[in-house]
Amino acid sequence: MNQHGYAVAIVGASGEVGRSMIETLERYPIPVSSLRLLASKRSAGKTLLFKKEPIVIEELSEDSFEGIDLAFFSAGGSVSLKYAPIAVSKGAVVIDNTSAFRMDPTIPLVVPEVNAHVLSKNTPLIANPNCSTIQLVVALKPLIEAYGIESVNVSTYQAISGAGAKALYEYEQELSDESYEPQILPTRSDEIYYQIAHNVIPQIDVFLSSGYTKEEIKMINETQKILDDYELKVNATCVRVPVRYGHSVSVTVKLKKPVNDREEIIEVFKQSPDVILRDNILHQEYPMPSYLAHQDEVFVGRVRKDLFEENVVHFWVVADNILKGAALNSVQIAYYMHRHGLLGD
Ligand SMILES: NC(=O)c1ccc[n+]([C@@H]2O[C@H](COP(=O)([O-])OP(=O)(O)OC[C@H]3O[C@@H](n4cnc5c(N)ncnc54)[C@H](OP(=O)(O)O)[C@@H]3O)[C@@H](O)[C@H]2O)c1
Repeated sequence: MNQHGYAVAIVGASGEVGRSMIETLERYPIPVSSLRLLASKRSAGKTLLFKKEPIVIEELSEDSFEGIDLAFFSAGGSVSLKYAPIAVSKGAVVIDNTSAFRMDPTIPLVVPEVNAHVLSKNTPLIANPNCSTIQLVVALKPLIEAYGIESVNVSTYQAISGAGAKALYEYEQELSDESYEPQILPTRSDEIYYQIAHNVIPQIDVFLSSGYTKEEIKMINETQKILDDYELKVNATCVRVPVRYGHSVSVTVKLKKPVNDREEIIEVFKQSPDVILRDNILHQEYPMPSYLAHQDEVFVGRVRKDLFEENVVHFWVVADNILKGAALNSVQIAYYMHRHGLLGD
């Protein structure tokens, strides 16, 4: 860091998450002395604006991290596995958005509202969790503090942008051309493709022998790691829906203590500084992705006490997958480290 701020690099700058990272850095009070934008050969030479100044995207190489203090990675797991250690060896702190390092026990997996305490001075590499997991753990935090939790069961309704810019482009093609052949969803790593327009796909990422998808196992493992509770029973069904931005999650939680009524849980969420409660059944008020996309916060609604069990509650959580689910959470990690003197010399 020099007196003007940090030399920052964004790997995957031309992607959905990378572009959102640039916009988030513009409005967050992290001093940036220089910004290097990195992507593949495909985007090298194109320009993007940072604080109204054009910056030319460079092709990522082993020499890209000379003089960089802080590097955000969002260009896929294989890129992170190869280049994040190089960035660290050049002295950069890396915040990685891919799944490459999330379950490495030596690497912190961080949602600042929930577990920023695991960050320490010059932690060289920090992993940013899966998008649906981030909004889930933020919403679970007030319940953990008030009651403790025993188990969590979720179904997700995940936006197309979660699969990247090309998946969004494919959706637009499907809407405008009925003969278009899908080539991306449910996942590029599998053999058969389905259209997402006018459809709902109960597969995100590839299947494992257990019958769960990789995305579901990520949610389960990452939730336990972030909450540092490996006894917590977590179950997930992850589903892609034809929504451009904003993931929704239907959550059922078994608490460690009984609950009197719906109002009691409503009050717990109301008191939390980390979620915004949108729950007014008289006025049909509840969070919906089309209305809340491009906002920073995690929104909670449809709060109910289970009709049969004293200590079970149900609710609905919506957040922007590109912001809180990726770019914003990464920038918030950096901002927390900056504010607490954990970045730089
Ligand atoms: N979208 C989400 O909601 C979300 C949430 C959390 C985490 N993530 C993770 O973040 C990563 C990026 O996601 P995205 O949605 O932004 O994808 P995206 O829109 O497809 O963008 C991918 C970016 O990576 C770059 N890239 C690809 N291969 C590269 C290579 N070999 N060398 C250098 N750059 C390369 C691309 O550059 P070109 O333009 O040159 O191709 C582009 O900038 C993924 O690992 C994803 O799992 C995404």
